[in-house]
Amino acid sequence: MQHSATCGPIGVFDSGYGGLTILEGIRKMLPQYDYVYLGDNARTPYGTRSFDIVYRFTLQAVNRLFDEGCPLVILGCNTASAKALRSIQQNDLPCSADPSRRVLGVIRPTVERLSEISRTGHIGVFGTPGTIQSRSYDIEISKINPDFVTTGHACPMWVPLVENNEAESDGADYFVRQEIDRLLAADPEIDTIILGCTHYPLLEQKIRKYLPEGINLVMQGEITAVSLADYLQRHPEMERRISREGSCRYLTTENAEKFSSMASVFLHQPIEATQVRLS
Ligand code: DGL
Repeated sequence: MQHSATCGPIGVFDSGYGGLTILEGIRKMLPQYDYVYLGDNARTPYGTRSFDIVYRFTLQAVNRLFDEGCPLVILGCNTASAKALRSIQQNDLPCSADPSRRVLGVIRPTVERLSEISRTGHIGVFGTPGTIQSRSYDIEISKINPDFVTTGHACPMWVPLVENNEAESDGADYFVRQEIDRLLAADPEIDTIILGCTHYPLLEQKIRKYLPEGINLVMQGEITAVSLADYLQRHPEMERRISREGSCRYLTTENAEKFSSMASVFLHQPIEATQVRLS
């Protein structure tokens, strides 16, 4: 099929606000590029949805970002990376209008860093029920480090705490402490914990408060940025297709004002969003 390689922004997708922590990490390291963020806030959370639904919603979002001119889309959402990335890469992209466009996720870059970080090889993963049930982290970790022991633990209350701006409330302490205790009871040798959901960095202070000393916390903003920088260096043909004025636009499937005010909590600066429909 014939296609012309046009220049455009990098797309960053999440089910809601969480991917803003990924976007922030990427923009800090690669401020020269243009970005479009898309949050499917009207249909969040994805973490409790089935494979089929997460795949369908994620594909709609990716197509929307392609329509915005993005040659490269980052799924800044663990649930979408776990449940939809492989099908999109293997089945949808090859027969799309421009198969040279790329979609990347956040799980593989995170897992690639573990051997530098963990001494015991015992890894804990906090994630949404969907990410944990998919066992994507276990599978990817064992491909790179077959001797590592991975224990996943779902934290169903953490996303609602963040989405409802309760991450710093006293109530959040209860749920944060409870999940840390449960994970470490399941494997006391864990020395590294992945925050495998892009919302969780908003709970970082509380998590550190209850995490025993000596346990590493792996967050994905910087890791994804380093991995993206490396990818663009290894793929100059893609790097040339990214437009570069340092701009960033925000799209949401929810009310734009609502998104703008909540997104400011994640980004620590005011932003203006536009409402879009996905189909
Ligand atoms: N931020 C998403 C992730 O990284 C989860 C939020 C949701 O459940 O939609 O998995």
